[in-house]
Amino acid sequence: MSPDSNLLSEETISQAVAQALKEIQLAKNLEELKNVRLNHAGEKSPIALANREIGSLEGTAKADAGKRIGEARNKVKIALDDRTVELQNEREDSILIAEKVDVTQVLANANSSSLMVGARHPLTTIAEHISDVFIAMGYEVAEGPEAESEWFNFDSLNISEDHPSRSSSDTFYVESMDSGIVMRTQTSPVQMRAMLERKPPIYVIVPGKVFRTDELDATHTPVFHQVEGLAVDKNLTMADLKGTLDHLAQSMFGTGIETRFRPSYFPFTEPSAELDLKCFVCKGETKKRKDCKTCRSEGWIEWGGCGMVNPNVLETAGIDSSKYSGFAFGMGLERTLMFRYGITDMHDLVEADIRFTARFGLGL
Ligand code: DAH
Repeated sequence: MSPDSNLLSEETISQAVAQALKEIQLAKNLEELKNVRLNHAGEKSPIALANREIGSLEGTAKADAGKRIGEARNKVKIALDDRTVELQNEREDSILIAEKVDVTQVLANANSSSLMVGARHPLTTIAEHISDVFIAMGYEVAEGPEAESEWFNFDSLNISEDHPSRSSSDTFYVESMDSGIVMRTQTSPVQMRAMLERKPPIYVIVPGKVFRTDELDATHTPVFHQVEGLAVDKNLTMADLKGTLDHLAQSMFGTGIETRFRPSYFPFTEPSAELDLKCFVCKGETKKRKDCKTCRSEGWIEWGGCGMVNPNVLETAGIDSSKYSGFAFGMGLERTLMFRYGITDMHDLVEADIRFTARFGLGL
């Protein structure tokens, strides 16, 4: 046996393994273990050096030595892996302890100016404000699904089969195209749901999200919000509708705000009107100067659509249109906020950066 083949003796190998296992256990952290790995599993470790000698052996001696080295390597590897996991867990535990957050401490500091608190989105605030105005008049808040059947969104509202708003260039269809489900394009389908679920007299207010295939730009967003109102009772007239909307306008824009109805057309109301607000900034007095940004010096701002519920729609809901009449209205909340606060870019409302939303505080 040449002197070097001592490296391959059973005794030398088992000593090398024993030494390795001992040092692995003694390693106190991952850095120390890295050194141990280098010394006992690296290229210059006793086991690696012994491995190099195998070539000088022959026959069964070679096979035996190969087996011994293989087993030795395996033992060291398993011990290294196990100790690595143990030390990693220890490290994570100590980080958790070191970085522990005392949440009660944060609360104690809540009044300090260094703490950023969240802000409500003005859309939430305005939707609640409008709902409150109507709840005070005896209305109920109603809801419906955002993924809505085509029947509720269009057919039940007297919207014809070939109406352009139904096309997939305006409306998001839920796959497949013949599923009969759309992302609702308006809150009006909740009118029909409310009528089917209740018996007259019916007074509901419906704030909600709606969807249209618009690109996001300064004045459009594919997901926006509307508020819908519906009243069905005996002897309701256009005068009741006007009085109700005047009351809403005063509560949002201050007493003395003027409104007007402009004739219009919606399939679900007859007669129909556009509701305009007298510009609360220039009061219509900039027509000649052309410098009012709020109404573009039109003097009036288009706020929403409204009208007397079409008798066809009442009948579809099973309501006797010879006994009952109804009025309905709907307006966009983003648009309302934009002219109410002089917001010029829709991105601000969509992005909801706290530096933007915080300006609105808690009230309107
Ligand atoms: N749904 C209409 C829209 O999205 C708005 C509307 C108009 C709602 C007239 C109504 C109404 O309830 O009576 O443009």
